[in-house]
Amino acid sequence: MDHISYESDVLIIGAGGAGLRAAIAVSEKDPKLKISIISKVYPMRSHTVSAEGGAAAVIKDNDSLDDHAYDTISGGDWMTDQDAVEIFVREAPKEMIRLEHWGCPWSRQKDGKVAVRPFGGMKKKRTWFAADKTGFHMLHTLFQTSLKYSQIQRFDEWFVTRLLVDDGRCQGAVALEISTGQIAAIKAKSVIICSGGAGKVFPFTTNANIKTGDGMAIAYRAGVPLKDMEFVQYHPTGLPFTGILITEACRAEGGHLLNKNGYRYLQDYDLGKPEPRPVLRSMELGPRDRLSQAFVQEREKGQTLEGPYGDYVHLDLRHLGKKIINEKLPFVRELCLKYENIDPIKEMIPVRPVVHYMMGGIDTDIHGATALSGLFAAGECACVSINGANRLGSNSLTELLVFGARAGESAANFALNQNGSSKGLDFLYKNELKRLNKQFLNRTGGTEKIVDIRKAMHHVMENGAGIYRTEVALSDAQNEIQELKSKFKNLRISDTSKTFNTELVGSLELSCLLDIAESVIQSALFRKESRGSHQRSDFKNRDDANYLSHSLAYRNKNGAPEIKYQPVAITKWPPGERIYGK
Ligand code: FUM
Repeated sequence: MDHISYESDVLIIGAGGAGLRAAIAVSEKDPKLKISIISKVYPMRSHTVSAEGGAAAVIKDNDSLDDHAYDTISGGDWMTDQDAVEIFVREAPKEMIRLEHWGCPWSRQKDGKVAVRPFGGMKKKRTWFAADKTGFHMLHTLFQTSLKYSQIQRFDEWFVTRLLVDDGRCQGAVALEISTGQIAAIKAKSVIICSGGAGKVFPFTTNANIKTGDGMAIAYRAGVPLKDMEFVQYHPTGLPFTGILITEACRAEGGHLLNKNGYRYLQDYDLGKPEPRPVLRSMELGPRDRLSQAFVQEREKGQTLEGPYGDYVHLDLRHLGKKIINEKLPFVRELCLKYENIDPIKEMIPVRPVVHYMMGGIDTDIHGATALSGLFAAGECACVSINGANRLGSNSLTELLVFGARAGESAANFALNQNGSSKGLDFLYKNELKRLNKQFLNRTGGTEKIVDIRKAMHHVMENGAGIYRTEVALSDAQNEIQELKSKFKNLRISDTSKTFNTELVGSLELSCLLDIAESVIQSALFRKESRGSHQRSDFKNRDDANYLSHSLAYRNKNGAPEIKYQPVAITKWPPGERIYGK
């Protein structure tokens, strides 16, 4: 095979919100820096596009940075690094205004000022929105802004298979062009991973099919630890059949969650009492972990409804009326009509908790730097960490702006201080070609099917690492994932074509998913306490004395995770009780 290689100063893996924001930051830092962005999908198809409800940043006079910080820290059950949170809340408003200047059409009040809505777990209204298509508009804004910079070269529909690490630093990546099958080395002085989360380790998720944890897996395989992987967020309101997100904005606008008797059951779960108007941080505007856990308890009481796609409750928007639904929640109405044949103006929406977001990810510092020199990360694939054990809705769109920009700036500075690439890269590239040929492209005789392994992995994750977990279930899950990893070695790949070989891409993705699944299970097994989204039925309380620490999953020689711990950074908010509904 020909030796194909491209050169750049900064390589960005992933072209969603964080990747594009990072690319703009590098371009602004020094126009001479040559940037490559690789994405396995066309940028406007990145998962940021499907974010709905909004992005949080302090903007109104009655709000404060400390309030935003406290909501985020208590929402994360004190697992957040407070130095990172302080930076986040401080830089958030500037980033949002910058986006406005780049053309983002934020929804407005009647007086022309930016409108904000309440969001779960936040005691002030601070979520900026563009109707209920916020991610779509943000991604458009970032993409069109990135087009202004001719120094950005895009590799659309390329799949990264490995990082190039030589001389103790990351110097690029090897990637497959999906349309032609060519495999190239893309050399760079620094690399930023912005490849999104890994919701597809679970069967029922709001996440697009592309969210297979590839970026997390390649960093992990290069020796970088994955932090806090046990914390997996369930969003309380997904459509039962598809898992499509029904945004929290519905509840922000006043929507109610009702059990099978038409009762607002959240009042029984320490989340306050019903009021005629939505009350901040209470009932339906409580944090996502508490709402998803309440659903499970309500189901155990026999108070949920049964449907062909699992048990569910109702989200009732009918009292909001046609005008509000059409103006503020047009996309929700469209989704309900298309996917459930239900009109929320007249009918209640069936919903159930659905895997939505990974709080954990590639361990970074506040500059987006990882433990591997030259490698940076931002967005959902990274863990800086501002989300702790439970992210507050609408913090992640802002996070990808704030930390995308910071990672871009840091990677630019790093690249400006490097002279060039080391000699060993070509050898590493050839080795990766050999590996891909042997394990995937030229393999014969395997018997295991991708679909069977993926289905089995989904089953294991749902049963072992769902909303409530136990030692026994997690240990079983750990054994089962190990078995699936063995089966993966005997994978059958029947498509040998070079053009759009989706079977090859599917198997590369599956290998990443298995690594991620194993790190989630192992981290959850070791955390013998309940905190935020990580609920152990056998260790029901939060245990600050032993577990006020981030877990770090390192890949050992056998390819399995080994867990270490690192203290949480506390600046001014000592651990306290999470109180909602008051
Ligand atoms: O419900 C939502 O609109 C989701 C927002 C988020 O995850 O931040």
